Amino acid sequence: MALAVALPAGLDRSTLAAWYRRNRERSRALFDTVLPGAYAARPIPLRNPICFYEGHLPAFAVNTLLKRGLGDAGIDAAYETLFERGIDPEDENAVGTGAARWPPRAEIRAYADAADREILAALGQRAIDDAGNPVLAGGLAAFTVLEHEAMHQETLRYIWHRLPYDQKRRPPDVPAPWTGIEPPLPRTLRIPAGRATLGVDPGEIPFAWDNELPAHRVDVKAFWIDRDSVSNRDYMEFVEAGGYREEGLWDPEGWQWRSEHDVRHPLFWELHRGAWFWRGMWELLPLPMAWPVYVSHAEASAYARWKGRRLPTEAEYHRAAFGTASGKERRHPWGDAPPDATRGNFDFSRWDPVPVGSFPRGDSAWGVRDLVGNGWEWTSTVFAGFAGFRPMPSYPEYSADFFDGKHYVMKGASPATARELVRRSLRNWFRPGYPYVYAKFRTAA
Ligand SMILES: [Fe+2]
Repeated sequence: MALAVALPAGLDRSTLAAWYRRNRERSRALFDTVLPGAYAARPIPLRNPICFYEGHLPAFAVNTLLKRGLGDAGIDAAYETLFERGIDPEDENAVGTGAARWPPRAEIRAYADAADREILAALGQRAIDDAGNPVLAGGLAAFTVLEHEAMHQETLRYIWHRLPYDQKRRPPDVPAPWTGIEPPLPRTLRIPAGRATLGVDPGEIPFAWDNELPAHRVDVKAFWIDRDSVSNRDYMEFVEAGGYREEGLWDPEGWQWRSEHDVRHPLFWELHRGAWFWRGMWELLPLPMAWPVYVSHAEASAYARWKGRRLPTEAEYHRAAFGTASGKERRHPWGDAPPDATRGNFDFSRWDPVPVGSFPRGDSAWGVRDLVGNGWEWTSTVFAGFAGFRPMPSYPEYSADFFDGKHYVMKGASPATARELVRRSLRNWFRPGYPYVYAKFRTAA
């Protein structure tokens, strides 16, 4: 056995390998919930078919760490092209069609097993932290692979969410839905003027995506923000008041999306024989009024306008989540303690939301609730790089491809966000008319 290359302190090979294995087991378990007949299904038209992702995860690891980083030839050039990219195509024509081009699952699994062996060998023994190679410096490619897979697990969950119930197999350990009864009465809190730190400096944390860099401070004026995320109960008033028919409440592109798809209510709501239901991952539930409503950015903006309010900016989110009266900023809304299951609904412990305000131990210094967990939070900020942005050498197209003025920043975490992705600087982004994600919102003024 080759002698392992020594790594600098802080980058521990056994931790990276355990992290990789845990990722792979979690992904495998997800793919195993899909019945064989649905393996090439495409539950979200703008996304690739399910089978693509089972090849994409290992192929991305090979392309990034082994080929781009370590200069290897790779394992299977055809697979490493076929499964290379799978994010956010503009329209359905940009997505490959036809099941015929996809290999059967056994072949994809065989490739994945070969890739896993090579990746684990690299994490265990090779020069994965090479200061002379920008792709590898600080373990960049290894971290990129590890966080990429965890992020895809969230994507996979919301794709699976759209699969008909008879095409997926419910795992035995799914917890019973925690529906609650009614949401708390709405309350708005005043956040005083102050500074918010967005982003993070290179080297401050072991790994950050390029769009998180660098750290910078933003002055935020005093503002009001809802203590709780907007609930299904709150949002029902908007639906019943005809909010989906009132063009003046919508941004032009939001109205166009609403009209083109004849959207009349949130995608997670379904009307059956005159009664509203929530489409849960594993079952339909009578609409839990105490849950946060999951909506697109276009819907969230229209609701806020109907209320005479608006969505918070990214900087206001930071101020509400991490600011304190003393001016010191916290790592997390609740303080500097690491994220755990008492702070919010994230890290895959549930498949669906819980009532708003269920985790008082996750409150921010101002008493704002659920800023991390139970669904991402929409902001009014258009996704862009921070001043000084540089594409990351391990994955140059990760963010830069989306600086098109057509994506909005989301912050926080959903039930399907891994614990290691819960950090202040992390940013997520989607188009305003993308209704599939686990995204909630609150209003500001
Ligand atoms: Fe990917």
